[in-house]
Amino acid sequence: MVIFGASGDLTARKLIPGLYELHRRGLLPDRFAVLGAGRTGMSDDRFRRTMRAALQDGGDGQPPPELERFVGALHYQQLDTGSAGGYGKLAERLQAVDAAAGTGGNFVYYLATPPSLFEPIAGGLAGAGLAAERDGEWRRLIVEKPFGYDLESARRLNERLHAWFTERQIYRIDHYLGKETVQNVLVLRFANEVWEPLWTRATIDMVEVTGAEQVGVEQRGGYYDGSGALRDMVQNHLLQVVGMIAMEPPAHFLPSAVRNETVKVFDSLRPIDPSQVVEQVVRGQYTGSLTTDGALAGYREEAGVPRGSRTDTYVALRFYVDNRRWAGVPFLVRTGKRLPARVTEIVIHFKQVPHHLFGTPPASVTSGVPDPAGAGRRVASVSAAAAEASKLIIRIQPDEAIQLRCNVKLPGAGFAVRQVAMDFRYADLADTYLPDAYERLLLDGMIGDATLYARADAIESCWEFVTPILTAWRERPGIPLHGYPAGSWGPAAASGLFERPGHDWHSPMPSLCEPGGRVEM
Ligand code: BG6
Repeated sequence: MVIFGASGDLTARKLIPGLYELHRRGLLPDRFAVLGAGRTGMSDDRFRRTMRAALQDGGDGQPPPELERFVGALHYQQLDTGSAGGYGKLAERLQAVDAAAGTGGNFVYYLATPPSLFEPIAGGLAGAGLAAERDGEWRRLIVEKPFGYDLESARRLNERLHAWFTERQIYRIDHYLGKETVQNVLVLRFANEVWEPLWTRATIDMVEVTGAEQVGVEQRGGYYDGSGALRDMVQNHLLQVVGMIAMEPPAHFLPSAVRNETVKVFDSLRPIDPSQVVEQVVRGQYTGSLTTDGALAGYREEAGVPRGSRTDTYVALRFYVDNRRWAGVPFLVRTGKRLPARVTEIVIHFKQVPHHLFGTPPASVTSGVPDPAGAGRRVASVSAAAAEASKLIIRIQPDEAIQLRCNVKLPGAGFAVRQVAMDFRYADLADTYLPDAYERLLLDGMIGDATLYARADAIESCWEFVTPILTAWRERPGIPLHGYPAGSWGPAAASGLFERPGHDWHSPMPSLCEPGGRVEM
């Protein structure tokens, strides 16, 4: 595996730890080597020391033998990505490492670099004869995000990469597809006959997807300010999750079949007309606030962020999947930085019962019935409470779980109804190890399984949906950018995306601060 951007943060934080975990679990072949390439000049030794330190972070400082074996397979080559000569030297070094490790001329190139280098590196590899596959030797290119900046740039990047690599060789990573719980959406749906008949507009009222982050932009203000929440999280990760929720069952579990079905979902997304952007999309930016944990800085006070920035750190949108299964069902998707918690979850809201049989109990019990959970306490006003609609909550992270909320009869007089939860937590599975998303995807890339990687047409289709929103924001600065206090659940305006009065976002936990101080910016 040749890692471009080897001296960068992603390599130390995700790629090398992911590879090491695969090694520890016996999933890497004996004949394996890493050649790190980067602008920084570094010896093999220094690269190994740095990576060893990254792997030992938090450990007791005693390297186990398998760590030493793994670190011994790491190599480093300085590369000026802009010079053709650099790729010649890289090719020589690669040949030497390949011969020593016995890796048979099979190379995975991982582009863990800023996106401006994707094209030059792919072209440089091709120029040095390292792109084309021959004599049973394979060459694959894993491309990090962001893949494009809008529809046009994504198309151009696909075109450029296709000049040197075939689509079969290109693996566009979206680490959300590597998450066990995202993959489990497919198993839950297609390995249980109980759900599939219910998984339609006939029974489902709406679908909610939340990707909330507690952190702010941390040290990435410079990058983030040119991106924003819609590009950073929705165009890729959250639409991929929607793809899993909404797709038709594939005929078999092969990359082409699965990816064909997700592309059909993206192609069915009803475009949001620029005139509808205000009604269907709410954008926000966090402002400084005082929370129970102390003061939190506003986005414009973060390092690398211009003081007058109008970048979205929060976005919520309502859209529709125009096909037979989902016609008329609203999909509500939101994501934001500096929300009260890190939680990614899907909430499938089932329809209300058409007739509330238990909504109006006889007068004799309206004074309250004993609450089984609360010693002697009585449940107030059961008379008015019509049964709440059932929900299926799929918690992607953290505390990975599935919860079905449905109504039961409260024991005692009358027919008081209460919503209860039946749940399954991954943590309850004996011996479960939830691999990091990168670990899974790195392995898939090496064994040539592209099922969980995004195909060119899928990426373009997602950009096609998102780009008109970005254009409307750019061209019509009057579209509000709502301020929301760091630590709150985002702009109150996002509640207005629900079509029916009384509906609101499912909030897994309360705000950390008073949600007042709503400023329109
Ligand atoms: C990345 C985004 O792709 O995904 C980050 O660039 C974001 O801004 C991250 O924090 C979220 O990933 P996860 O796995 O922590 O939900």
